[in-house]
Amino acid sequence: MDVADILARAEARSEALTEDELAVLLALPPRSAQEAALFAAAYRVKCRIIGKRVSIRGLIEAGNVCAKDCFYCGIRRSNKNVGRYSLDANEIEALAAEAKRFGYASIVIQSGEIESEEHTAFIEDVLRRIAPLDLGVTLSLGEQSQETYRRWREAGATRYLLRIETSNPELYAKLHPASHSWRRRVDALKALGRCGYQVGTGVMCALPGQTARDLARDIIFYRDIGAHMIGMGPWIPHHDAPLREPQDSRMPPSDKLHLALRMIAATRLFLHDANIAASTALQALADDGREQGIMAGANVIMPNMTDVKYRAAYQLYDGKPCLGENAALCRGCLERRLDAIGEKILYGQRGDSLRFRAAHAQADAAGA
Ligand code: 5AD
Ligand code: FES
Repeated sequence: MDVADILARAEARSEALTEDELAVLLALPPRSAQEAALFAAAYRVKCRIIGKRVSIRGLIEAGNVCAKDCFYCGIRRSNKNVGRYSLDANEIEALAAEAKRFGYASIVIQSGEIESEEHTAFIEDVLRRIAPLDLGVTLSLGEQSQETYRRWREAGATRYLLRIETSNPELYAKLHPASHSWRRRVDALKALGRCGYQVGTGVMCALPGQTARDLARDIIFYRDIGAHMIGMGPWIPHHDAPLREPQDSRMPPSDKLHLALRMIAATRLFLHDANIAASTALQALADDGREQGIMAGANVIMPNMTDVKYRAAYQLYDGKPCLGENAALCRGCLERRLDAIGEKILYGQRGDSLRFRAAHAQADAAGA
């Protein structure tokens, strides 16, 4: 297959590629001229559809108490070496207000997964308290019942992030204990769509046993599940988590980074109008990893707002950046970094997903 031809078709039209063609792009050699052409094509699409603009979400890591036990994650339930914390409603409200002062018109509230009436009501209360700030609010609080999603939606959340982690159920089963269900996660994503959220999902790349074909299918999955936002990043081992890199096929950090960048680029070329995040995990592999993510087609960055005293306790993987920086430092740093690549931060704008708007305009037209 001719890569130049694939790129030309992908650039001209959203959702134009087949699974085989996506797999070809994902398997391009790191640091090759063809890979550079892939990034350039994805960046042109990003600039054409979204502009040289980056949307910002202030990330609030609201707590690391988690009922889940994913084999890759540093805050999994079985990890006894991590001090657990939960922000109270006042602390979350203060961070949301700080985000507002910074000109971030959107925030993400993320925490470990807790399913209880008490927690559902707590989040509802937080959402009602921050409503007067008029921020775009994304939740990232794991799998919940449709009823819980509905209550949080009514209390003011408009977006929800729930990574599928991998669209391959067999690979999913190798990365999680038997009590964790891939099917339930898919159902949760569908429930989010029914509740009217802008739905975000995504996967980790460079997982042991994962192939370019798996990643190509992940991108098709994003379309089929109706995702409007995508957040992806490389898997990075955590010293207290059981998932280890296979001894015989260690991937150098630069190769991992490049695989994650190809995944961003291929996703942009397939879903022209999706919001795609340049995740913090990219920055763990290279100082300018997030900027490289933007140059490969991403358009969202989530600077950390969490107080420095909690940052180390929210370590999903080793080498998390900016553990010692507060929110103001992260803001200044990000501004300089984006300036250097000629991208502008969209202060004061929520940056809703164009894909969500397009999907709803279509539904409205069909109903009219
Ligand atoms: N490396 C990279 N990403 C990770 N996540 C969890 N553990 C790791 C890790 N070791 C990601 C998962 C999860 C998100 C909150 O963080 O994709 O959905
Ligand atoms: Fe946190 Fe640079 S992004 S200091």
